[in-house]
Amino acid sequence: MNAIVDRAARSQSAALSAPDPHTIPLADIDVSRAGYYASDTVLPLFARLRAEDPVHFCADGEAGSYWSVTRFEDVKYVDSRHDLFSSEIGGITIADLESNPEVRLDNFISMDQPKHDQQRKTVAPSVAPTNLALLEPLIRARVTDILDHLPVGETFNWVDLVSIELTARMLATLFDFPYADRRKLIQWSDVATSSPQIMGEAGLSEAERASAFADCANTFASLWHERANKAPGNDLISMLAHGPSTRDMMSRPTEFVGNIMLLIVGGNDTTRNSISGGVLALNQFPDEYRKLREQPKLIPNMISEVIRWQTPVIHMRRTPFADVELGGKTIRAGEKVVMWYLSANRDESVFPDADRLIIDRPNARSHVSFGFGIHRCMGNRLAEMQLRILWEEIQRRFRHVEVVGPVVRVPNNFIRGIADLPVQVHPH
Ligand code: HEM
Repeated sequence: MNAIVDRAARSQSAALSAPDPHTIPLADIDVSRAGYYASDTVLPLFARLRAEDPVHFCADGEAGSYWSVTRFEDVKYVDSRHDLFSSEIGGITIADLESNPEVRLDNFISMDQPKHDQQRKTVAPSVAPTNLALLEPLIRARVTDILDHLPVGETFNWVDLVSIELTARMLATLFDFPYADRRKLIQWSDVATSSPQIMGEAGLSEAERASAFADCANTFASLWHERANKAPGNDLISMLAHGPSTRDMMSRPTEFVGNIMLLIVGGNDTTRNSISGGVLALNQFPDEYRKLREQPKLIPNMISEVIRWQTPVIHMRRTPFADVELGGKTIRAGEKVVMWYLSANRDESVFPDADRLIIDRPNARSHVSFGFGIHRCMGNRLAEMQLRILWEEIQRRFRHVEVVGPVVRVPNNFIRGIADLPVQVHPH
C-alpha cells in the first residue's frame, strides 16, 4: 500500500507538459520524456510526427539519440522484420541494456532467433487455449470475490482494489506462487519498469533495483528447486524448471531472473492498466458507456478497443543489424529504433477518429498493442479473457463505475500507467 501511495506521489511531482506541437522545431521533439506521459500531453507531438516526419531522428533524448517510428504501417513493418531488426543487440526498451549484472535482465523477449523460439516454446503452453479454459472458472471466482467486497458508498482507488489485486491473484495462480505473498510480485514488476531512463527523475536507483531483483531471485530460486524435484506441474516455474531448453537456466542468473521478470511484468502492468484504462475511457465517453449497458454483447470488441485506446505498452525498441532504409531515411546499423505503439494506435489512416473510444469500432482488433511477428504478446488471450470476465461481472453488478476524482498517471515512457483512479461504484 505504501508503495502505491509513494508511486502516486512520485508520479504527480514528475508530470511535465509537452511543448506546443505546432511551434516546436521538428528536430527538438523528444517524445521519450517521462513527464509527458504523467501529464498525458504527448499525443499531439506524435500526431505532428506522423504527419510531417514519420521516421524521426532525435539527436539528444533523455536516453540518448534514437529514431522514432510513428505510423501504423511502419511500426508493423519493423516489428515483423526480425531478420533486419534485432531485439538482442540493444534490448527492447529505449533504455540501453544495463551493464551491471545486478540489475540486468536477460529474457526471451530480448533474444533473437533461434534462442527466442526455443525458450518461448517452453512456457507458451501455460497460456495456450486448453490451459486458459481450465483457468476461466478460477478467474471468474477471483473476479467475483474482488467485486463483491468493494466498499459501496465510499470513494476508493480502483487501481489498488481492482486492477492490481486482480492481476496479483492471476500471477500468483500462473506461478503457483504463495498466495499470501502475491503483492510481492507487483512490487518486483514495478521495480523492473522503473529505471531512470524510463521514468526520468521518478526512476529508482540502481541500488534499490538491485535489492528488489535479489529478493525476487532468491524467492524464485527456492520455488524452482522445490518444483524441479517434483513431477512437472502446469505452473510457469515448473515448466521452466523441467523444459529442455530452460532447465539449466539457474546456472545463468541474469537469464533466470530475467525470464521470471518477463512473465511477471508481461502479466502485470499491462493487464492492470487495461483494467484501469477501461473504466477511465468509459467515463470520458459516456455515450459509449450507455451503448455498453444496452448491448452487453459488445464486451469482447470493447476489450480490444480499450486495449487500443489505452496502449499499455507504449513502445518497443529494436536495433538494425545493418544499415536499413525506412520512410526515405537511412538508419545505420546499431542505431536505436523505437516503435511507438501508442502513436500507431492513433494513426487516423487506420483508425478514424482515433482519439475517441468507440466500443463497436469495426477494426478495433487491428491494434498494435500486442505487437507483431515472433515477439507478439504471448499472453494476449489470457489478458483478453481476464478483461472479458471482469467486464461481464462488473456489468452484472454495477450500473456505473464512476470516476469521481483526478487521475494520477505514471511518468513512464514504456508503460502507460495509471497510479490513482478514484471511483465510486453504483450497484443496479
Ligand atoms: C493487455 C495486456 C497486454 C499487453 C498490451 C501486452 C503487450 C505486449 C507487447 C507489446 C509485447 C511485445 C510484442 C512485440 O515485440 O512485437 C508483449 C510480449 C510478451 N508478453 Fe504481453 N501484453 C499483455 C499481457 C500479457 C500477459 C497477461 C502475459 C502473461 C503471460 C504476457 C506475456 C508476454 C510475454 C512472455 C511476451 C514476450 C513474447 C516474446 O518475446 O516472444 N503479456 N506483450
